[in-house]
Order: sequence, then structure tokens, then C-alpha cells
Amino acid sequence: MKVVVVGAGYVGLVTGTVLAYIGHSVTCLDSDQAKLDVLMSGRAPIFEPGLDEMIRIGFETKRLSFSHDYDAVEYSDVVFITVGTPPLETGGVDLSYVKNAATEIGKHLDSGRLQIIVNKSTVPVGCGNWVEMLVSQGRESAADNSKPHASGSSSAGASERTCVVVSNPEFLREGSAVYDSFFPERIVIGTSDRQAQNIMRELYTPILEQNFTRPSFLEPCRDKRGAIPLVITDPASSEMIKYTANAFLATKISFANEIAAICESVGADITEVSRAVGLDHRIGKEFLNAGVGWGGSCFGKDLSALIAIAEEYGLTPNILSAAKQVNSAQRWVVIKKLQTTLKIMKGRVIGLLGLSFKPNTDDVRDSPSLDIAEQLIKLGAAVKAYDPVANASARIARPDLDVSYCDSVEEVATDSNALVIVTEWDEFRSLRLSSLRNLVRTPVIVDARNIINPTVARWAGFEYFGIGR
Ligand SMILES: NC(=O)c1ccc[n+]([C@@H]2O[C@H](COP(=O)([O-])OP(=O)(O)OC[C@H]3O[C@@H](n4cnc5c(N)ncnc54)[C@H](O)[C@@H]3O)[C@@H](O)[C@H]2O)c1
Repeated sequence: MKVVVVGAGYVGLVTGTVLAYIGHSVTCLDSDQAKLDVLMSGRAPIFEPGLDEMIRIGFETKRLSFSHDYDAVEYSDVVFITVGTPPLETGGVDLSYVKNAATEIGKHLDSGRLQIIVNKSTVPVGCGNWVEMLVSQGRESAADNSKPHASGSSSAGASERTCVVVSNPEFLREGSAVYDSFFPERIVIGTSDRQAQNIMRELYTPILEQNFTRPSFLEPCRDKRGAIPLVITDPASSEMIKYTANAFLATKISFANEIAAICESVGADITEVSRAVGLDHRIGKEFLNAGVGWGGSCFGKDLSALIAIAEEYGLTPNILSAAKQVNSAQRWVVIKKLQTTLKIMKGRVIGLLGLSFKPNTDDVRDSPSLDIAEQLIKLGAAVKAYDPVANASARIARPDLDVSYCDSVEEVATDSNALVIVTEWDEFRSLRLSSLRNLVRTPVIVDARNIINPTVARWAGFEYFGIGR
């Protein structure tokens, strides 16, 4: 099929390259020319394992292209919307990018045949209808301007429906996005239109049936599952599925962090507790790790959006609000631990290990590390930081933060009063603590992800603080 993906970010690029890989002809559109320049040179503008290879394969097979204009929409069978939906101050969702994308798509549709518009961005419930309206308006304005490609029809009314808006939420995880797109745990399609359902099923057939040839760089599916479940549902349920999944995962982490605080008070070890509790298959071991809490572009904004949706209907989602509060407070736990031992933060040098919100990505959106850095600076500390890939994105995201970015753990450790492990990069799991001991000014380590052995740290001469242990 001919596919257009509007928004070449984390989701759009991975979706586009995977669809090209399984045989579709894909054009990824983006409004950011600097990003397009990097993509057209054959490289990924973001750090995502396997993405560079996917772009290379897309170019080699001539099934992948990049563009800044919407011309390809006219000839497409399926158009994905994968633009950002960042949070508003109010807790709601900034839908301006979706609005622009939908209106532009509407202006460029070919009104003579059925085209599917797929909303993959995470949007509040009911956005499918809204996108349909925007597309119609875009179309009408194009017809008014007598653009040749909009001459056939002026509206997408029910009787002459030539475009259908489908919800298809995305569940990929940054850091393993390519893997997740080849081996998803489910594909959710929200539409009652039979023809659209069939087109979407056909689009994803190689993934659903798992009958593609795996790219050589990609590890095999870890749990050897067979066909991928396809969930076909109504648009509102589809949109709710995405919010519910993220809200549940975020709540699970906040739950673990609340239990961690109790563990710490009573002298229990959260890592032992979580391990044993997670062995119960009804609970499961994933997302039970205590630490500095969740961050990233999705959990916070999706939880806030779900709360805002509930409140619009007069509901009070207590559990969701509590999950958010616990998470915000968790970032302070690190500061409190530093204050417990160093007392005064003014004039102290604090070394942060990790800037991205999680390992294997350069994404620093809502990163706990940057919040902690900001707080430490406010308290008068000097902050040094090192991340294996995210130094550059942190610099760009927070030019206001006076952080000294370092090229290695050793550089961060030199003359530090405390080291804080904020992101659980593999590199930080096996720190050479004995050598670091000789570099630091005072041997304090806050392991905000519980990834190092406290006994080993103490043996190397460090005062060790974990979370809930
Ligand atoms: N990042 C994730 O892990 C993830 C996972 C699942 C779902 N989502 C959802 O997917 C959506 C996209 O997230 P993302 O992280 O990929 O965002 P992103 O910010 O990385 O990418 C969005 C891209 O859209 C481009 N864009 C914005 N408006 C445009 C327009 N009118 N025309 C063309 N391009 C335009 C931007 O330049 C940017 O490159 C969001 O709704 C997000 O909630 C994200």
C-alpha cells in the first residue's frame, strides 16, 4: 500500500520504517526541516536502537522517502497521524499539532476513492470524530480554493464517505521501539467501518501473522509468540485502551515507590519484596521496580489527560491522582537523601549519572534527572552530569540549566561530593567503585534505581543510599 506518516518523531519514524520494511511504500512527512535534512542524509535524528539500520534498508529497497509537503497524501491509501500531543499547563492535551496535520491532510486527500486516516497519536477520547471534522474542513477549504485534487467532493458526509478516520494507538517503548513494532503484544484498531477494518488488517498482515523475514540486526522475539492479537473495537474504546495501559503502568510504578517508602521505614528491602511479589503471575514482575519514578513524554501527560477527561464528566479519579502525586514526590527523595548525609547543598558538587528518562534513549522529556538537577542548582549545588547518549538532547532541552556535561563517569566523579545514579543504563550497573572512590571528594552514592549492590558499594568505601532498601 501507499502509506504517508505525518510526524517523523519517535513513533512516526519507527512506524514508517517498519511499514516500509514489510513491503509498503512509505513517505514520512515532517515540518521540521533540520530533522528532514538528517533523515535525507540517511541517519536517524534520534537515538533509537536499530533505527539507523531501518532507514538504510528503507532507502535500499526504495520504499522509504521523506518530505516536508503533503503532496504524497493525494496518492496514499493510508495516512498515519503521529505528531506530538504534549501536555498543557491545565493537564489537558495540546492538540494543535493534530489539528494542523488533520487540516493539511484534508486539503490533500483524493476525494475519488476510499482513504484511511489513522490516528496513532495518543489523543483524548472522541478525537476520532474531531479529526474527521477537521479533515472535512480542510477538504472544503481546498475545494473553495479550487485546488485540482479537491475537485471531486466538498465534504466527507456519510453517504459519500471517501475517508475514514481510524484509531490505532501505539504501545512501543522508546529504547526498544523497533523490536516492539515487529513484535507487538497486540494491535488495536478502533473503527466500526468494515472496509477500514479490512484495510488495516491487510496493512499489518506480515506483523499480525509474524511471517516477515526478521532484519539481521534484530533479536528474535523473546517469547516466541504466534500470531499477534488484533483487537478491533470502537474508536472510543481504542482511545481509552491507550490511556488505560499507560495509567496502569504508571500506577504500578508509583505503587512500588509507595511500598518502598514503607520498606525503608520498617527495615525491609523493596528489591526483595518486589521480586517475590512479582512472581505471582496475577501481579507480574514488570514495572515493580522502586526508584526515582517514571518520566518521559507519555506517562505524565497521559495520566494528566485521563484525569482531565474524567473530570470533564464529573468524576474524581483518586487512584490516578495519587499515582501522579507519588511520582512527583519521588524526585524529592533523592534530594532528601543527599541532605541527610551532606546536610548543606550550597557549594557541594553533585554528579548525576544519566540524563535520559530511561536507558537506551536520548529522550529527556520529563526526565527525573533534569528536575533533580534544577532542584540541586536552586539549593546552591554545582551539578555535573554524564549520559551515554543524552548529553546533547539535555543541553538542547534545558539551555537554562547550569550543568557541566561530562564525557565519562570518571569525569563526573572527579571532586564530586556525591554521585547519583538516575538512569539505569547498563554502563552504571557495573561501576568500578574502587577506582571512583579515589576520584570523589566525599564517597557518597545515591542509587536512585537500585541497580548496584549495596554491600559492594560499602566495601569500596562509599556511603550507600538506595530507594526502599
Ligand atoms: N514516544 C513514545 O514512546 C510514544 C509511545 C506511544 C505513543 N506515543 C504518542 O505518539 C505521538 C507522537 O509521539 P512522539 O514521541 O513520536 O513525538 P515526537 O515529538 O518525537 O514527534 C512528533 C513529530 O511530529 C512533527 N510534526 C508536528 N506537527 C507536524 C505537522 N503538522 N506536520 C508534519 N509534522 C509535524 C514534529 O516535528 C515531530 O518531528 C504522541 O501522541 C505520543 O503520545 C508516543
